[in-house]
Order: sequence, then structure tokens, then C-alpha cells
Amino acid sequence: MCGIFGIVSRKDINIGKIALEGIKRLEYRGYDSCGIVTQYDSKLFVKKDAGKIDVIHKKLKLDEFPNESKLALAHTRWATHGAPTKINSHPHLDCNDKIAVIHNGILENFIELREELLSKGHIFKSETDTEIIPHLIEDNLKTNGDLKIAVANAIKKCIGAYGLAICHADYPDTIIAVRRESPLIIGIEDGKTTYCASDIPAFLPYTNKCYILEDDEMAILKAGTVEFYDVNNISVPKQKEIQKIDWSIKAAEKGGYKHFMLKEIYEEPTALRQTMKISNDSLKDFAETLLSAERIYITAAGTSFYAALAGKFIITKFLGKYIQAIECSEFKIELENSLEENSIIIAISQSGETIDLIEAIRWAKESKQRVKVLSITNIVGSTITRHSDKVLITQAGPEIGVAATKTFVTQILAQSLVALEIAKLIRTESNDEIQKYYNALYSTPKVIENFLEKNIDLIKYIVRSLEKNLNFFFLARGISIATAKEGGLKLKEVACRFIEGYSAAHAKHGPISLVREGYPIIFIAPPDNTYERLIGNLMEFKSRGGKIISLVVKEDKKIADLSDITIRIPQPGDKYHTLFSPITFIPALQLLAYYAALEHNLDPDKPLNLAKTVTVH
Ligand code: G6P
Repeated sequence: MCGIFGIVSRKDINIGKIALEGIKRLEYRGYDSCGIVTQYDSKLFVKKDAGKIDVIHKKLKLDEFPNESKLALAHTRWATHGAPTKINSHPHLDCNDKIAVIHNGILENFIELREELLSKGHIFKSETDTEIIPHLIEDNLKTNGDLKIAVANAIKKCIGAYGLAICHADYPDTIIAVRRESPLIIGIEDGKTTYCASDIPAFLPYTNKCYILEDDEMAILKAGTVEFYDVNNISVPKQKEIQKIDWSIKAAEKGGYKHFMLKEIYEEPTALRQTMKISNDSLKDFAETLLSAERIYITAAGTSFYAALAGKFIITKFLGKYIQAIECSEFKIELENSLEENSIIIAISQSGETIDLIEAIRWAKESKQRVKVLSITNIVGSTITRHSDKVLITQAGPEIGVAATKTFVTQILAQSLVALEIAKLIRTESNDEIQKYYNALYSTPKVIENFLEKNIDLIKYIVRSLEKNLNFFFLARGISIATAKEGGLKLKEVACRFIEGYSAAHAKHGPISLVREGYPIIFIAPPDNTYERLIGNLMEFKSRGGKIISLVVKEDKKIADLSDITIRIPQPGDKYHTLFSPITFIPALQLLAYYAALEHNLDPDKPLNLAKTVTVH
């Protein structure tokens, strides 16, 4: 949700080019409009417009700024307040074009602040909430000449979420970065260049050394150095620990693939293998906490929520306790009057920054009940980790495609590892049985590799055969409902098709009325204890002329024989492998969505209106 990139350097570089590349790497956060400001000779140079970065670059030459300029701020926008227009694009400036601000987040009290500033004679050009900030700073600078104090005073008046990067025409070597609720990371090449960005991949080609800014912290960036302050006490610098990120830049580049989405689907086997290395101690810690819980909730948004639906099935199988899944945006509303003592919340988020999720767990932790939060995320140091009692980090590597793919499978894997740890602790299954589940789980990367090797033509053929059908269903029962829902979400996200994942049993209470001769229905059919009933559901659709496409295991016969087209996942159909089928079955549906997007000339990496990290309610 909006990408911020800032750079201040003493190196002989083309600052515009680096700023442009920086926001290109953040484009997955929003792509309604973009802008860059550089600073030189007490002047600010701004280029901005509405549209995708490449188009604006062609028009405005975003890499051409004064050669001497060594400081730049760059922004890619996901519009909230104000339409995606040139005027509303960031950066926003004060009345004298001296102060430039880029912002990720939303200021809730911007109407009051705007009125206050208008009454003081400030002139606004845009409809954005962000434009308040340069004017507030300008106002504060009139009473005290110190930029740092002026910024601190200005943001103390703001209510809401913000990651901000600020520069001033008269401060040639200074960026001020400050955050609350929206992520901001500071990258550093010692003595040479300092960066700030909403996400690590933005500066990963230059450095893997970074500081993660916390709420109400301010960073003063100079070329190759950085100082930190508490916004409420800016007289004394504070110490922060530097972190080394072990992601390689290759992982954040397309590496020969046409799109990140495709690359990230192909990276699923590696992401799974890496995530299998989560330490036994952390898994045991998670497992013991769940065993001690009286009540367990699982919560997330989007794809992570569907990973949670699959994970809750797998954990419950061994834990023997009910886990209630609630979408994070509804969490507080649902539990306001019923959150019980000693509850545990499992919170799942690839970004670790989804604001509805953060709000849900913060609310639960601040309640009188003693609630613990166990979180699963892909991002070290993300906001969710700071509000959690225990954290598991999935090792999917950077995921740039807006539609989550490899993080989904690693989230289910992490939950499966916790489930098997529980099995080891409670010993209701023999060691031999548990080992068979482990073996099946460890085989998931190979299954996906084998599938990807042989099935692309079949997936493309199915996409072409579905061409005329603008809507249809993925139907399933039991754990596979999670797979079906995630498949439907992928098609909506990247192919702009209203394809719905639905319970096969429930589908006869409504959706079946859509069926006509040749209407396609895709059944997700691993051979678990819902298989026979699913055959009944399949027949209900087939007998009404439905065209049946099924997703089955390699040796399947019954459902395959009833289907018009069969996609075979190359895995055994025993109960051990079948339990983890949401991991091995989903790549087929992700690819279906990917090739459907291409068929419709859509860019699967930048779905219309979506953003990867959702930091607004
Ligand atoms: C956005 C993204 C999805 C993601 C969801 C939840 O909608 O486009 O890919 O599943 O947010 O994000 P999280 O980071 O919490 O998993």
C-alpha cells in the first residue's frame, strides 16, 4: 500500500536512476501513480504523474535530474484520499516548495488539520491527507528553526498511520524518516549511502544491512550514517541494533521469468525446503503453547486466511481441540463480548503488516483476558512480530507478485510442522505413524516439481477451454475448501474473473442453479474421507450438463472416470500425503489463474486496484 524509497549518498551516482529502480522494486505495493523529488542547490526538483511507473518514465524521464543531486525521495501510490491524478501523486510540497513529503498510510484527522492550516493561510493543491504534513512542518519551522523539531511537532498532531520520508531544499544532506503503523526500513552502506524504504527489496541490490524503524521512532539519514530518536524525546539519540538480511537480490528479481507470479510459483519447492528448516525449539514452543490453551483462534486476511483454514484442519487433527477461524477484520466485532481468559491467537500474515490483523491482535492483547499471540510471517522484524509472544518465520524469500503464491504454501507447511510437533508431544499416534506424516510433508517440494515439469500444456489447454465462461466454481469438501477458496481468489485477483471456491455440498443450495450444458465446474478431489460424498456432489452437477474438470491424485480412478478433463497431482493417495494436499494441489490453480490473466492480456503481477501490503482498514 504505497511504496516509499529514499536515498542520500556521497557516491558519484545518477540519483534519479537509483530512485526509479527503487520504486520499480516496490511497485507491487501500489501503482496508481508515482513521483520522484531530488534536491540540489537549495531547490527541489519534482517529477510526478498518474499511471504505471514505466509509462510515466517514458513521458517524464524519471532518471534525468541535475547530476549534482545526491538526495532523492520516490513514491509509488495506491490511492486512498483523492483519485489517482497527477496533483494527488506524491511528493507533496509546502507553500514555498521547500519541503517535500512522501507518505504511506492514512491520516485520520486530516480534515481538522487541513481546516486549521487553511485558516492560517496555507494553500493546498491536492485532495490528499498527505499534503497536511509539509504544511504542518512549514508552520512549525516558523516558530523554531530546527527541521528535526519541526517534524516531530508536526507528526505529534497527526492521528493515523504513517511511514514518512521528508526532505527540505535547504538541508542538502538530510532525509527525515518517521513511522507509526506503516513499515519503514533504513538500509545503510557504511560511510557512503543511506536508504529508507517501505520494504527491504527496494535497497537490497546495494546493502543487506538495515535497521527496522519502530512506531514513533525518527531516523535522520545522512550519506552513509543514520541517527535515531524517539519522537517524544528528540534531544537524545537512541541506539538501535543493525540487522543483516540473508535474502539474495536474485530472489527479488525476475531471473528470466516473464512475471514474478510465475517465478514465485516455480520457487515453491525451494521455499518449502527452506521453511522446513524452522528450528525444532520454536516449533516445540508453539506446540506446547497450543497444548496449554483453553481456547484457540486463528486469524488472517486474504490468502493467509485460506492458509489458516487449511492449517487449522491439520493442527486440529493432532491437537484434538477446536480452532475457530475468524477473518481479522471481523475479529474484534465477533469476540468483543466473548473473548475468554487464556485464549491463544494464531495470526498469519506474509507481510506482517496487514493493519486489520495488527489491530485485531493488539486489541486482544490489550484486553483484560490474558491472551497470547503466536504469529507466522515471512518478514523478520515486521509489525506483527512486535505484537506477538512467539513468532515463526517462513522462509519463502521475497514475494513480489501482488497475488500471494509461495508464501501460501509455506504458511501451510509451518502450521503442519507445528501440528506434527503436537503429535510428537501428545503421543496419540505411534512414532512410526508420525514419521509417515513427516515423510509425506517432506515430499511436497518434489511433488510440486514433478507437477510443474509435466502439466503446463494441460493447464494452458484448460484455460483456453474455459475462455467463454466468465464465472464458474471450484468445489470441494473438508480441508480442500481452503484450496478451492484460494484458487477462486487467485482467479479474481489476477484474471479479473468471478470464480468462486465453494463447498461442494453447499453448492446445491444456490450455485447449482447456474449450471447449463457445458458449464464448467472444477472439483478439488484428494482421496480423503470426503471423497465418496464428493462423488455424489459431482454427479449432481454432471447430470445437469456440467463440464467436470477434476484435480486428483496420480492413481485416481473413480473421479477421473467421471470427469471431462483431469489434472493429476503426482502424489500418492494415502492418508499421509492427502492431509497436506492444499500444499501440493494449489500450484495447479495458481497456474490456471496466471495463464488466464495472460489470456486476457492482464499483468498478473499488478492486478487492478490491489496492493500487496494492506496498511489501511
Ligand atoms: C493483500 C494481498 C494478498 C494477501 C493479503 C493479506 O490483499 O494482495 O496477497 O493475501 O493482503 O496479506 P498478509 O500480508 O497479511 O498475508
